[in-house]
Amino acid sequence: MLINHRFANGTKLPLGTTRMRIAHISDIHVGLPPDGMKSLVDKRILGTLNFLLRRRRKIHLDWLAGAVDRLQALQPDWIVCTGDLTSVSSPLEFALAEGFMAPLLELCPERFLYVPGNHDVYVSDRRCEKALAHAFSYLNSQRWDLTDLPVEFSHGETRFFVVQECLPTNWFLSSGRVPEEAVDTLLGWLDQPRQPGEKRVLVGHFPLLDGHGRALGRRRRLANAEGLRQALADGRLDVSLCGHIHSPFTRREESGSLEVCAGALTVAGKINLVEIAPNEGNVSQTWFDISDPRIAEGV
Ligand SMILES: [Fe+2]
Ligand SMILES: [Fe+2]
Repeated sequence: MLINHRFANGTKLPLGTTRMRIAHISDIHVGLPPDGMKSLVDKRILGTLNFLLRRRRKIHLDWLAGAVDRLQALQPDWIVCTGDLTSVSSPLEFALAEGFMAPLLELCPERFLYVPGNHDVYVSDRRCEKALAHAFSYLNSQRWDLTDLPVEFSHGETRFFVVQECLPTNWFLSSGRVPEEAVDTLLGWLDQPRQPGEKRVLVGHFPLLDGHGRALGRRRRLANAEGLRQALADGRLDVSLCGHIHSPFTRREESGSLEVCAGALTVAGKINLVEIAPNEGNVSQTWFDISDPRIAEGV
């Protein structure tokens, strides 16, 4: 029996899809000069200086037009963005980022998925939180509020688990944490028996491990994620899609499960394409390079 699937708002997606193409991007990191005095006296001043003095030179927002063309050619069923749209989560940055994402939403109407990165949840500031809430709702086609996460839904045989892992941290941390309740909910879902052909995809900002299977440094890692790491290692999860680390990587677990960090789209220029063929049991992965559109490197 195929999975019935409805979003919280009642959107129903077609049943019986046998092949799923997920295009995955991350970490575009738009940045702008400080907006207001308040942003000069908290962690935003550090993030803004980091952007203006260091990161801005590496970021190619001009590559985003090429990303739209490439994604159009790939004709994905879903486009997934795993966070860090902004540098310091300011309302102006979110507005700019939403503008960059708008053509991608048009490519995949109702099939664009966004989770926040730690830079999108940078400080406890009401205006920033409101801007994030707007971006989250807009980019996810008003399916959920941020407080609804974690959520799960199925499209054909592919079952998505969407998790919010970010919270404001002190000046020296870029770490995240899966809330206790979210861990319980996610592991409860992962312990359920699979529907025939079901493939399971986790969508979050932080890699569970690095490209070599090692824990990330304490300042950058995802806390409270042991259960999810185990689920990927033992095959209860088939795919983990993430960003945060700006160099893209793919890691296969011994179980065959896959973790793909898309890296920073505007720095590394990579689009991750994951194709799932449930009936054949295959999950394949391909990189597409928008910094040089002639390259398509299979992994
Ligand atoms: Fe990040
Ligand atoms: Fe990032």
